[in-house]
Amino acid sequence: MVRDELDLAEYEARMDRPVRIKIPELQRDDRLKHVIFSDQFTADTLEEMANIADMIRVLAKSRDGYRFLLDLLPHKRAMLYFTQPSTRTFLSFMAACQILGITCNEVRDPSTSSETKGESRFDSIRTFSSYFDVIIMRSVHSRLAECCAYLMNDLEDFNHRSVPIVNGGAGADEHPSQALLDIYTLQRTFQFESTIDSRRRLGFDALCSDTRYTGLTRGLSGKVYGFCGDIGRGRTVRSLANLLSLYPNVTMVFLAPHHPKLSLKPELRRKLVDRGVKVHEVESLEDQIDGVPAIEMLDSLYMTRIQREHDDPADAQAFAQIDFSRYCLTPQLVSRMKEYAAILHPFPRDKNFGEIPPEIDNDHRAMYFRQARNGMWIRAALLAYLFGVDRQISRYFQTEYTETHDYNEDVL
Ligand code: NCD
Repeated sequence: MVRDELDLAEYEARMDRPVRIKIPELQRDDRLKHVIFSDQFTADTLEEMANIADMIRVLAKSRDGYRFLLDLLPHKRAMLYFTQPSTRTFLSFMAACQILGITCNEVRDPSTSSETKGESRFDSIRTFSSYFDVIIMRSVHSRLAECCAYLMNDLEDFNHRSVPIVNGGAGADEHPSQALLDIYTLQRTFQFESTIDSRRRLGFDALCSDTRYTGLTRGLSGKVYGFCGDIGRGRTVRSLANLLSLYPNVTMVFLAPHHPKLSLKPELRRKLVDRGVKVHEVESLEDQIDGVPAIEMLDSLYMTRIQREHDDPADAQAFAQIDFSRYCLTPQLVSRMKEYAAILHPFPRDKNFGEIPPEIDNDHRAMYFRQARNGMWIRAALLAYLFGVDRQISRYFQTEYTETHDYNEDVL
């Protein structure tokens, strides 16, 4: 057995427990300490995070607000330990730290650290915790962040220094902060308020008076969420579907090739159904559900790339039979979507595969670049929450800020 596997084995019994048993261990006094699983969030915490993010994005646009934010956490340092490729998660966490005055440092290539001299990951992590006040990490190992949280808890039990662990993407397993920003984007879109977050042509009242959209409501409940592409191997899909299932009367449509590695995993399906979600699985955007083509019934469509890096030679023959073009959007398909629907993508999109061709970028339904920007605000909100300055932000915002401001709403 290689050394890495041995490391994780120390925590095996704890990893094998159901998530609901683990959640209390990741909290302190009813607040999150570590952020490892999307299941740690409730609809109330999601609302709370979105409110903090909304305040931060407004404050950051004025000189006084910006200075206030910068002065919140200048005594804190963050370690970004990202040993798996990342652009947006890494940079938006870094920008989020900068907004709050937190100093950042990074390790992205373990070959530059003492891990090459035989040091265990846990010794590296414990060392990071000596120098930094939060560790934000991404790894190919699906359970490493979870194990690091247990390590920190054990250190705490022995009165050693222990810092929060934030999961920035764990193998094929979970990506909770991506799910936070996806939810935040949907919350803003379905508030039907800001024209920048939902560049549709019609306002909420006009939409409601359109006979096609009778019964339309604000918020995430009662909507139809589509997920298209590599459903089986995408950690972002799993984490987002988990969070959406917290809202009542939700329908989810999974559009993926019929292959055990690519389609919805039975465990996730079961969990969603148990939580009252109506789940449909289809093989193309044109497939009909209750007589309506899937593309026309969606309130949002979460596109994903096909994660070729996980292809296994054993599947090559089966994959060669799949018509993957069915998992690519075209301007024609987009024009059939609801006027107010949102197209999301966790990014990176694959320019060779073309699941979202650039011609779609200027359609008012294309929300993926806003979504990436939202990641910076919601991650700043998450860090503010973890360091306990969220209430300070609300107080400042309410007392100093609600009356007058000098920001230009259009460029937020
Ligand atoms: C995703 C990831 O790394 O899981 N990207 C991201 O964090 N925004 C999706 C992907 O790699 O396809």
